[in-house]
Amino acid sequence: MTSQTITPAAAAAGTWALGDLTVNRLGFGAMRLPQTGPALVRRAVPRDREQAIAVLRRAVDLGVDHIDTAAFYFSPLRSANELINRALAPYPDGLVIATKVGPGRDRSGRWLPHATPEQLRGQVEENLRQLGRDHLDLVNLRVVGTDPVADRFGALAELREAGLIRHLGLSNVTAAHLAEAAAIAPVVCVQNPYGIGSPPEQEALLRACGERGTAFVPFYAIAGPGRQAGSTGEEPPEVLAVARRHGASPAQVRIAWTLHRGPHVLAIPGTGDPDHLTANVAAAALRLTAEDLALLGALHHRAG
Ligand SMILES: NC(=O)c1ccc[n+]([C@@H]2O[C@H](COP(=O)([O-])OP(=O)(O)OC[C@H]3O[C@@H](n4cnc5c(N)ncnc54)[C@H](OP(=O)(O)O)[C@@H]3O)[C@@H](O)[C@H]2O)c1
Repeated sequence: MTSQTITPAAAAAGTWALGDLTVNRLGFGAMRLPQTGPALVRRAVPRDREQAIAVLRRAVDLGVDHIDTAAFYFSPLRSANELINRALAPYPDGLVIATKVGPGRDRSGRWLPHATPEQLRGQVEENLRQLGRDHLDLVNLRVVGTDPVADRFGALAELREAGLIRHLGLSNVTAAHLAEAAAIAPVVCVQNPYGIGSPPEQEALLRACGERGTAFVPFYAIAGPGRQAGSTGEEPPEVLAVARRHGASPAQVRIAWTLHRGPHVLAIPGTGDPDHLTANVAAAALRLTAEDLALLGALHHRAG
């Protein structure tokens, strides 16, 4: 199964409803677009604008209708939201753009502390301006640490009531955060770091989301411990063996494995490379066998 032998289609992994918005389970993460090399660093090397725009348009052509972004995804010369606006506006019907608010970055790229409820409103407005929209489809409250989220999530719930936001989610959270937020307003998704070898608490949260009918949206499913620096390219023998069996790449196996964790799991692999994009969308059609899943499951439990 390579990008040469199968026509990539994001729909091949089926769909999931984020509230009243149905998306293909295979989506796209925009964090890699503003730069080449590590993301979210102050002196990141800006990516070629036309390449980033081409990747976004190709993603939509391949059926991607769920794009994850944030106003804090920027390099000195590029912003993910601006690239999305330039590439895709006027936005096609059915395209769901999910963004995140929480701790922002100042103009030099330094991380700021958690936003106050009032600052969160400003971040929502910043996303609206950059994306050129009158409302946001989905806003995730991104959380750092274990402090309660009621004030911040409550502020977003008010913006939802006011019609600026259609649906709310959470990112980088614990089960306690999910319970706290869900008592305030519906939580349609949880976006957390997850992939082969993730620790048991992420596994438990993935399952809890499935039981509640909440989408679980992994990030760093390919990058793993490389996190914002990106994939290290070092792969365990189990991933290589499964990849060989299917004529797939390790990245495709990693994406497919997350999609096999439950129908509520959505993939948002990030790339600025057109060939990687095509391969990642093709992973929606990769069906792992029971033998593959046993091998990767053993690796997951051993590494987690
Ligand atoms: N909520 C949060 O706190 C949070 C944090 C981080 C990310 N996110 C979101 O989650 C999305 C996914 O995370 P991510 O972009 O960091 O990580 P990822 O999807 O796990 O992996 C991206 C890394 O893998 C490489 N890669 C992608 N496709 C590949 C392929 N087919 N073959 C080989 N290498 C490949 C990319 O490099 P190339 O560019 O060279 O392909 C990049 O280094 C982000 O884009 C962002 O939207 C959210």
